[in-house]
Amino acid sequence: MTSQNNGNKENNNPAAAARGSKLASDFTASIHYDSRLYREDITASIAHARMLGRQGIVESDDVEKIVGGLNSIATEIENGEFEWKSELEDIHMNVESRLYELIGEAAGRLHTARSRNDQVATDTRLWTQVACGRAFDAAVSLQSALVELAEKHIDTIVPGYTHMQRGQPVVLAHHLMAYFEMFDRDATRFAQTAESADVMPLGSGAMAGVPYPIDREWVADQLDFSEISRNSMDAVSDRDFIVEFLTAASLTMAHLSRLSEEMIIWSSDEFGFIKLSDEYTSGSSIMPQKRNPDFAELIRGKTGRVYGSLMGLLTTIKGLPLTYNRDLQEDKEGLFDASDTVITSLESAVGMISGMTVNGDRMRQAAENSFVLATDIADYLVAKGVPFREAYIAVSDLSKQCISNGIGFSELELSDFQKASSLFDEGVMKITLDSAVAARDVPGGTAPNRVREAIKEAKQLIADAGQ
Ligand code: ARG
Repeated sequence: MTSQNNGNKENNNPAAAARGSKLASDFTASIHYDSRLYREDITASIAHARMLGRQGIVESDDVEKIVGGLNSIATEIENGEFEWKSELEDIHMNVESRLYELIGEAAGRLHTARSRNDQVATDTRLWTQVACGRAFDAAVSLQSALVELAEKHIDTIVPGYTHMQRGQPVVLAHHLMAYFEMFDRDATRFAQTAESADVMPLGSGAMAGVPYPIDREWVADQLDFSEISRNSMDAVSDRDFIVEFLTAASLTMAHLSRLSEEMIIWSSDEFGFIKLSDEYTSGSSIMPQKRNPDFAELIRGKTGRVYGSLMGLLTTIKGLPLTYNRDLQEDKEGLFDASDTVITSLESAVGMISGMTVNGDRMRQAAENSFVLATDIADYLVAKGVPFREAYIAVSDLSKQCISNGIGFSELELSDFQKASSLFDEGVMKITLDSAVAARDVPGGTAPNRVREAIKEAKQLIADAGQ
């Protein structure tokens, strides 16, 4: 296309012409993903237009036309009637160009005292705050599901593992509440990220500020921003809040991935600790006996792409000179994808946790058929005055004998214990899985009364979070 043709066509629409004589190629266009910013873009434009009117920068008649036109555009988009044009590159030019079609010349006044640089930063901050709220709510929902399940399993014994080896008995509720803590930190991180995003760049212009008597505080107030940015150059080039979002999302995915991994091994025939509901598993196309833990595996798998978005953005920003550079347009796909991924993963985990069946007998058996009471037996000697290291050796010898005889501690007679140490007496025969968990009666320990207390506090935290 010649520049002349181009010029003729674009003369009818200054917003389109402002893009320059060369049509944007698919390479530079971002409309196929940044159309997701339409609501924020229109809301911010309305606030900006009204401010221009209040400050006498634009006539109030024109402001009314602009606001009316923007509202119509929002309706068109919501009704699926809006025609997106990739040659107009991004959401900002698509909206502005359509505004011109709808209201004519007055549309050209909207971009007074504004640049796409402060505009996109404002839109993205608004969008990120909403995403943080949704991720926060999804994390709290998962916390609720964990608490609900934990409450039913305050007395269900399961082996606690270190190095994937049965270590000490715990109650299942304690294990589940460990995840409650992880998602609590995640929810907090999303709330903190919302605060980081809660600074309004609009009014920074392209990067130096604008030569009009604008009222930034008024616009910030309209858009529910708590603060305005202090430095225009930083404001248009800062994407830290997105890095923070991706960090919060990455850690959430790390926690979800660990939870998923446990769901996967616990539901295997080898463990048989839980059964995932049919809704969260699927059949194999060839092996009829199978129910595959697809949701858990996909959550674990999707963790990689969220980490990728974090790494991608960190790398994108690392060498950028001040101020805005087009590289920054690469911030949004990762943000949108990570937000979708983390929220749907959290929601899937809620379904998985709420729908699974626990096989408490199998868990107890796994604890019984093991040496998870070894520490307690050693502690028994410690209570009799034996230094822990000596007690450790005595019990280690005992367990080796048991292993070679193919028996467990529960099959030993008192006399067997006494061969290992003369300080053993009747009391050692009373050490059981239940006494072992009850003995860990310290704050943060697995004793059922402590876990009950932890669940009570957790419920309060959830209530405080507004759910
Ligand atoms: N689509 C652009 C982005 O997302 C908007 C800002 C464009 N600014 C510019 N000077 N080309 O970053």
